[in-house]
Amino acid sequence: MSNYHIKNFPEYFHVYRNSVRNPELFWEEIAEEHFLWREKWHKVVSWDFSKPEIKWYEGAKLNITENCIDRHLYTNAHKTAIIFEPNNPDEEAQHITYKDLHERVNQMANVLKSKGIQKGDRVCIYLPMIPELAISLLACARIGAIHSVVFAGFSSTALSTRINDSECKMVITSDGSYRGAKTIDLKGIVDEALVSCLCVEAVLVVNRINSEIEMKPERDFWIAPLLAEASKECAPEIMDAEDPLFILYTSGSTGKPKGMVHTTAGYMVYTAYTFKNVFQYTKGDVYWCTADIGWITGHSYIVYGPLANGATTVLFEGVPNYPNYGRFWEIVEKHKVNQFYTAPTAIRALAKEGVDFVDHHDLTSIKVLGTVGEPINEEAWHWYDDNIGKKKAPIVDTWWQTETGGVMITPIPFSTPTKPTYATLPFLGIQPVLMDENGNEITGNQVDGKLCIKYPWPSIARTIWGDHQRFKDTYFSTFKNMYFTGDGALRDEVGYYRITGRVDDVIIVSGHNLGTAPIEDAINEHPAVSESAIVGFPHDIKGNALYGYVTLKETGESRDHDNLRKEINQMITEQIGPIAKLDKIQFTEGLPKTRSGKIMRRILRKIACKDTSNLGDTSTLLNPEVVQDIMDNVL
Ligand code: PRX
Repeated sequence: MSNYHIKNFPEYFHVYRNSVRNPELFWEEIAEEHFLWREKWHKVVSWDFSKPEIKWYEGAKLNITENCIDRHLYTNAHKTAIIFEPNNPDEEAQHITYKDLHERVNQMANVLKSKGIQKGDRVCIYLPMIPELAISLLACARIGAIHSVVFAGFSSTALSTRINDSECKMVITSDGSYRGAKTIDLKGIVDEALVSCLCVEAVLVVNRINSEIEMKPERDFWIAPLLAEASKECAPEIMDAEDPLFILYTSGSTGKPKGMVHTTAGYMVYTAYTFKNVFQYTKGDVYWCTADIGWITGHSYIVYGPLANGATTVLFEGVPNYPNYGRFWEIVEKHKVNQFYTAPTAIRALAKEGVDFVDHHDLTSIKVLGTVGEPINEEAWHWYDDNIGKKKAPIVDTWWQTETGGVMITPIPFSTPTKPTYATLPFLGIQPVLMDENGNEITGNQVDGKLCIKYPWPSIARTIWGDHQRFKDTYFSTFKNMYFTGDGALRDEVGYYRITGRVDDVIIVSGHNLGTAPIEDAINEHPAVSESAIVGFPHDIKGNALYGYVTLKETGESRDHDNLRKEINQMITEQIGPIAKLDKIQFTEGLPKTRSGKIMRRILRKIACKDTSNLGDTSTLLNPEVVQDIMDNVL
């Protein structure tokens, strides 16, 4: 019997039980029945979390693009694979069929080869949400190059750090991008970044906005003429199951960003299988995920998961409020979207504008609604349920991470009864546990603890590029033989999970993971700053916003604090990008520290949240007097 498509709650339980009792058999059947392999594996899984070493489908040979494109050509060549909806609603949408996609990916793959890219080389992709972005990922995968997509909102410094970390040989970018009414000079950002990247030999440039840009001879190439000359056939490189497919950077609580490495076979199987079930995608449906392909959500659930299922996936270039706050709903109506997947922060921003923007549109096509990226509050959940799903479309609150590759805890729509703010139950094959401070598993229900996973799943990241020790330290050292997620969670009386938030120094702002350390480093570079500490505080739309406590080298009234605040945010924008800007900056005489010199963020967090009822014993601090001063001047 195939377990590929779960259709009801009893079936979920039945299959779930089997999936954890005999994971090898379970994952073997899924892989065997639904994918195209050039050679079969000789072992389904081998793993040792203490090293950590994890391998899935060892010995298998495949190419993921054959699974995402070629095999659909037999039956669905003329089906739309990607609907491209441009930023400007007056520009015509494009319907890219599987046949078109096959040709365009092959042409791009041939261009990459002609510029010297080979299997195993890293290619950095810094593009807006245009078809060439998805095509570039797939073209890399076609020839076995490892893509490293950098979200096109990151600054030149952030871009160069990422390019250098994985020593990318090539960058694919565009002259610029449209973002609502604005245009952004992407090529200029790339040029700035490349001043400090000696590894990059070639830059391919898509013409998106027709802007005047500088092309560096021998290094920069317009992509269109190269594509026009390239063959539409490109034999897929046959990859090992465990060959890296891509690197994607995520913020850590300390140090530089972590290049999470995902490999080929396991990632393919898991993203395809979760896509099918989490969205209950059925033939002919139109699916839309509003994330950017620059994040893991876009990799797994705009590109690989949907295409592996032969689905139609919408790729939207623009923003939710351009030309007005009804844009999402206009697109749902226009393309008759059946599954709609977005972030709580977008829901909150749209809810604030009122239902008028919704009511003008026919949303009857919607069957399933999804959220991802951060906890969804009850109010936003109900707004989504009432106004978008009209109480008929189940909401799947999907919990997962860049590191997990695919959805881990989620309702199965039409099967799992939903509960606002709860991600509910583990996906098939996933074994979550809650751990206490002493490293013991907390059993039973109505408990809370730190969320870990105790058995591998096919799409777990395999390492951090160039730093396996950090991979081990971050995810496998806090609890023995467990993958530690960095999140806290509670399990209610029926066993449903609710994610309560990060338990480390990562703050989720508008669904984006931001590490405190890199932001503090950026601030500390300001010549007037002595030190700083960043914490999160609740924000109506962003979920969390950033609060910075900054100590200056020279205090005194003479400093223009407002101007300093601007300068600090400017530094953050340059070093990281505008998403990391601080909402509030408080200048302080000092930061509360333990006797060993560690900043007491817990206290700062409480003060920023205006919750000073229970600050704990501050008398043991090195400098208890600063706490009162900070409280007196809180913003
Ligand atoms: O804290 C959790 C939160 O987002 C973190 C992962 O962020 P990132 O790697 O950027 O991936 C986001 C998209 C998969 C998690 O550790 N998070 C993600 N989804 C949820 C969530 N928190 C609560 N509920 C969710 N549904």
